[in-house]
Amino acid sequence: MKMKKIAVLVSGGGTNLQALIDAQGRGEIPNGRIELVISSASDAYALERAAKAGIETCVIERKGKKRETFTRLIQEKLRDAQIDLVVFAGFMIILSPAFFEEFANRCMNVHPALIPSFCGEGFYGLHVHEKVLEYGVKLTGATVHFADAVTDGGPIILQKAIDVEEGDTPETLQRRVMEQCEWKILPQAVSLFCDERLEVEGRIVHILPA
Ligand code: GAR
Repeated sequence: MKMKKIAVLVSGGGTNLQALIDAQGRGEIPNGRIELVISSASDAYALERAAKAGIETCVIERKGKKRETFTRLIQEKLRDAQIDLVVFAGFMIILSPAFFEEFANRCMNVHPALIPSFCGEGFYGLHVHEKVLEYGVKLTGATVHFADAVTDGGPIILQKAIDVEEGDTPETLQRRVMEQCEWKILPQAVSLFCDERLEVEGRIVHILPA
């Protein structure tokens, strides 16, 4: 099986990137290799995590550029590096539709809620957990899905749920969703992709047997 080249796009702390680096280190992504980390912010801590793991990094800032230009620069970088799989791991910028045409079913996103709840434009980072607590739902979690031009709208690959607990704050909830959901299902989804075990049929992602 061909070794898949993975690029991870980040904007901030990079704990999901770290989960991928750690999973790779444990041999849990045998058919993939993280080759490139692109950050939309020059001060993202994710860049330090990548450098420490010996992964090539690149900063492409959104500021002062049209969305189309920003998108094109990212596409060119990914194309030059011959990337097979793009992972949005806390990547906070919405790209132009052209991106999702080129990377259809080759780009995945991790979202910190159970899609189709608490998702779409404006639902990112800590805000998602604030809205979850405001609404009073008793279950939340995370979703990994193929990204398309509709924010948080593409076919779902994996989800994991946890209970909302009495006394939770956005911060405690975010931490548990990360630890118990995101950091587990993101590496799993990446590994399934690299093993060629994900088959997309319309909205449905079939997970093929090993
Ligand atoms: C994560 O919770 C991720 O799911 C979320 O931002 C956080 C980034 O943390 N992403 C979104 O809200 C995208 N809509 P990280 O930089 O430590 O991985």
